[in-house]
Amino acid sequence: MKAHLITYGCQMNEYDTHLVESQLVSFGADMVDSVEAADFVLINTCAVRGKPVDKVRSILGELRKLKAQRPLVVGMMGCLAQLEEGQQMARKFQVDVLLGPGSLLDIGQALESNERFWGLQFKDELHGHIPPPPAGKLQAHLTIMRGCDHHCTYCIVPTTRGPQVSRSPDDILRELDMQLAAGVQEVTLLGQNVNAYGIDQGAKLAGYPSFAELLRLVGRSGVRRVKFTTSHPMNFTEDVAAAIGETPAICEFVHLPVQSGSDRVLRRMAREYNREKYLTHIAQIKRHIPDVVLFTDIIVGFPGETEEDFQETLSLYDEVGYDSAYMFIYSPRPGTPSYKHFTDLPREVKTERLQRLIARQKEWSARKNAAKVGTVQEVLLRGDAHDPAFLEGHTRGNHPTVVPKAYGVTGPGIYSVRVDQATPHMLYGKLVDAQGQPLPELPRLNPEAAALTSPLQMA
Ligand code: SAH
Ligand code: SF4
Ligand code: F3S
Repeated sequence: MKAHLITYGCQMNEYDTHLVESQLVSFGADMVDSVEAADFVLINTCAVRGKPVDKVRSILGELRKLKAQRPLVVGMMGCLAQLEEGQQMARKFQVDVLLGPGSLLDIGQALESNERFWGLQFKDELHGHIPPPPAGKLQAHLTIMRGCDHHCTYCIVPTTRGPQVSRSPDDILRELDMQLAAGVQEVTLLGQNVNAYGIDQGAKLAGYPSFAELLRLVGRSGVRRVKFTTSHPMNFTEDVAAAIGETPAICEFVHLPVQSGSDRVLRRMAREYNREKYLTHIAQIKRHIPDVVLFTDIIVGFPGETEEDFQETLSLYDEVGYDSAYMFIYSPRPGTPSYKHFTDLPREVKTERLQRLIARQKEWSARKNAAKVGTVQEVLLRGDAHDPAFLEGHTRGNHPTVVPKAYGVTGPGIYSVRVDQATPHMLYGKLVDAQGQPLPELPRLNPEAAALTSPLQMA
């Protein structure tokens, strides 16, 4: 069998794709990198907003055409597969295999079956299963929990991924050990709400650690860098900030989605915190982690959001001074309470607010990144940049960073880099030695690269 996987959605979906891919390989499948070369195409889907759903619909349409021309098995997995919306699509486009996020390990059974196979249960055995570490990569994801027990009124995720189930610390540390043995230097702990790790009923009965304790355990494992995503402010504790501040391996990076700066909107979203409570968490984070890099998620144009509400989001942005943000236009999702009970705002109102918010984010990112010029950052260089005379990577605070090879770096790894230029999206710098001194420039191997005096000229 020649299998091709297409992934939409968040990092949890990327992790799940890797899990299913490792299963397919163990059944003897060859992984191929195009639809044309495949006889099995599996799409890992996302349903969080309308856009990723539309994309899946259009790909399924293309695949149905292909199916009429040659033998082809089409599969759909992940969040959209769990929803009635996705199942209708699957029927319409003649999907053969459908696996919800809790039934991924049914892939073997699905492929053996000669009929249409649909697996839609939330099964806990998924947690006992450890995919092999990604080959030759310095970075890895590690899922520490599945599902979500919150009920934000706009969000489909609790329906697609089911209730929260924490993974056992033994499983987590065993997977981490395998990743370390394979050369992984940066691990990102994943969950819809990692702060709530260990508080579901099963986890409590089993005596699992809190998230802060888990962070300390992972931080002592020998891994160079630890990150995590995402945190719900409701379950954030000061101990998490303390654990980050005191554990050298845990990166000074916190992604704490706020969604809105207005108490009225937060209440209608059922976020279970208000502006003041959120700002208390931010103050604790800044106290324990002085150099913290702060990211957030914001939804603009939630039903009933007034201009005043939106102004409160802008003022909260300034009050926190985020390094960057993921910003979304509210997208009504069938099956969510806000879809059912509230009226969507006009499209133009939502887009216009998004533009203003993006402008604010750019100002702050420009200011924050400019302040990094002259500092030495620890950069994980992944591999060649667009221009092969440069390597690309990211800092402990997730700033994308570009470094010329000419200054003593030849391959992927973690290096000290002095930042010499910055844009709102990118840092540029050169390697330094242990004393923070620039390394001498090496003779350039590539004459074209030598013509570039500044990496900014590439853009
Ligand atoms: N569990 C994470 C969020 C996962 S979804 C958390 O609570 O932080 C990622 C982001 O998508 C959310 O933070 C939210 O900003 C956005 N989002 C979720 N549902 C949305 C919707 N219906 N419309 C627009 N954005 C949405
Ligand atoms: Fe969705 Fe809220 Fe759960 Fe995040 S915490 S996944 S936004 S319901
Ligand atoms: Fe999308 Fe599911 Fe992730 S809906 S954002 S893939 S949890």
